[in-house]
Amino acid sequence: MMNERLAALRAAAMEERDPTCSDGVLSVLLNKAERVGAKHILEIGTGRGLTSVALLLQSDACVTTIEREPARIAAARENFARFGVSDRVALLEGDAADILPCLEDVFDLIFLDAAKVQYRRFLPECKRLLRAGGVLCADDVLLFSDGVPPKRRMLAQHIGEFLHDLQADEAFTTTILPVGKGLAVARKERAQ
Ligand SMILES: C[S@@+](CC[C@H](N)C(=O)[O-])C[C@H]1O[C@@H](n2cnc3c(N)ncnc32)[C@H](O)[C@@H]1O
Repeated sequence: MMNERLAALRAAAMEERDPTCSDGVLSVLLNKAERVGAKHILEIGTGRGLTSVALLLQSDACVTTIEREPARIAAARENFARFGVSDRVALLEGDAADILPCLEDVFDLIFLDAAKVQYRRFLPECKRLLRAGGVLCADDVLLFSDGVPPKRRMLAQHIGEFLHDLQADEAFTTTILPVGKGLAVARKERAQ
């Protein structure tokens, strides 16, 4: 059962439209983390840190998480301290486009939850950083499954291209789950 304080903060974040992943997505992430025996998790797009907190409370894993918005960085640091997990989280401040190429660690689970227009660009870095047998989860990939508003055509195209690249990559076995606004779950089957 989820920690009550965390559940309340998640509900408040959703009410204030300050995004955190849906309950369905979180439940898949927690399940995947357990199944791959995740010791080191990468999250791209920290928000207020609530998904990192849930992952950290579930196990003794460490999380590296990347965020570029100063207000969210401050909120996330507060939440990590509030839940006593600061010592197991590295919050990297800045744009993931600049930070990802500098990372050298190997991760068991990667949660891609940043600007959707950048997903395709981040995919090669996610692949490089994920261990064989590890899992990449990308949120909101079915954002426009009910139709694309004219102003969002470019974004829908970016997401479509990301999904095409991911599904065409034979290093991954990819499933798209109908949780939240669509979660791509891609297991990396071999080294590269
Ligand atoms: C959907 S929210 C993340 C929610 C968080 N993963 C959770 O489940 O609680 C997306 C976050 O990604 C951040 N973001 C978007 N693009 C980014 C980038 N290129 N580099 C770093 N952070 C980014 C946004 O500022 C925002 O806080």
